[in-house]
Amino acid sequence: MKTIKMYINGRWVPSINEETIEVTNPSNGEIIATIPRGNANDIDDAVKAAKEAFASEAWRRVKPHERGYLLFVMAEKIRENRDELAELETMDVGKPLAQGYADIDAAIRYFEFYAGAADKLMGDTIPIQDGIIDYVVREPIGVTGHIIPWNYPIQIMSRSVAAAIATGNTVVVKSAEDTPMTAFKLTEFFAESDLSDGVFNHVTGYGYEAGAALSSHSLMNHITFTGSVETGTAIMKSAADNIVPVTLELGGKSPNIVFSDCDVEKAIDGVVKAITQNAGQTCSAGSRLLIESTFKDTFIEKIIHRFKQLTIGPGLENKDIGPILNETQFKRIQRYIELAKTEGEILFGGKEVVVEGSENGFYIEPTIIDNLKPDSKLAQEEIFGPVLSILTFDNEEEALQLANNTNYGLVTGIWSQDISRAHYLASRIDSGQVFINNYGAGGGIQMPFGGYKKSGFGREKGWMALYNYTQVKNVAIQYR
Ligand code: NAI
Ligand code: MG
Repeated sequence: MKTIKMYINGRWVPSINEETIEVTNPSNGEIIATIPRGNANDIDDAVKAAKEAFASEAWRRVKPHERGYLLFVMAEKIRENRDELAELETMDVGKPLAQGYADIDAAIRYFEFYAGAADKLMGDTIPIQDGIIDYVVREPIGVTGHIIPWNYPIQIMSRSVAAAIATGNTVVVKSAEDTPMTAFKLTEFFAESDLSDGVFNHVTGYGYEAGAALSSHSLMNHITFTGSVETGTAIMKSAADNIVPVTLELGGKSPNIVFSDCDVEKAIDGVVKAITQNAGQTCSAGSRLLIESTFKDTFIEKIIHRFKQLTIGPGLENKDIGPILNETQFKRIQRYIELAKTEGEILFGGKEVVVEGSENGFYIEPTIIDNLKPDSKLAQEEIFGPVLSILTFDNEEEALQLANNTNYGLVTGIWSQDISRAHYLASRIDSGQVFINNYGAGGGIQMPFGGYKKSGFGREKGWMALYNYTQVKNVAIQYR
């Protein structure tokens, strides 16, 4: 069992009150580590260190390409430790090992992408009048807080931290109390790097203590958060007191819209993967299937056929579906499945699975729920499990109406060979990403990612994320 420490101002420290939290492997319930239960005093130390580092001449003088080089070194270290990190992520989150590897590879790409971007974020000059030069520069925003969820910890930490450091900010990461292991490894790599003390800090603890203390700290300059709408709302309110901008990525109820003229095999692959990846514990999970009525029976039969072939078991055994994170999440999913009995009908699955030798893990069958009303909870609320809700439509307008009929708007999949229809729908869909005849474009770390409506605002990933971590300064010089 590992004893993890926080990393504050270049030092490895326990929490001031020396309390700890146990970390479990969701696949079998084993305790694999303890982390410090950081509280407001610990967070205060970390934020002050980050503030001081930000104000230091040493950090200011690091050239953009040198920040980029630091990030390249991080990418190299992750690559060198790829196997260990993939296993660690798998053990910590419960995801299938292949997904663990995919997550590590995405982390490498994030560090490389933002390493390359570090010396390419340019400003503007603006024509005002003869005798005036006006220029616009993007400056770092200051101390950035990164509150990481438990479902894709290394990916989500890498995408925001790399962007923040590329643009010259300092960082305080609060990893998820359930899944801190790869955050700890990345922290080790940062500790070995040439970063000066206080530029990168990692704190651990519960959301309502450590997370809340970070998002309400008066010295913070930006908060990036991925997680629930409820917690996102709380974070935004506490940041409001300090007039601090936030970037919120708050999940969804993303639809896959399937027309009878689709490439069926591609659509089946896409729809199945979109709801079973990471056992459905994915912000962008394709948790609603909107299907053309005349095509419904044919398509659903094929999905059921595929669901029957999916294997379920511990992450390291690399089955198709791993365990649910913990008992709280598991019970939440079960409550939704229970609701299906009154709101609709369970067409497939719905039962707990006991995996021999891993009886303390929380496993559940992939599940299909049918006969739902568009306004039912199962058609509206994020379940965060391998549960697919089905709704039917008769024409494009109905499909569009259903697709936009939730409070969320993160991702939409459209499956049709009619390119005019697909483009038309893409233009009318309220979501931050639209995928036509694919779902996710292989992870797409270069594409801006974020929500419409209650799925949040601000964009992560890609070039656009750099703007979260900069503020704009306009300088006008009159020389005549
Ligand atoms: P959560 O949103 O409460 O937790 C995510 C992160 O926020 C964790 O690091 C947690 O420590 C931190 N946090 C919690 N309360 C906080 C507060 N008051 N101030 C600052 N930070 C705080 O999500 P939770 O409870 O783990 O899961 C509940 C549901 O949230 C899931 O069933 C799912 O629907 C949704 N969720 C969505 C995610 C996404 O990828 N969009 C990721 C995780 C959860
Ligand atoms: Mg864990």
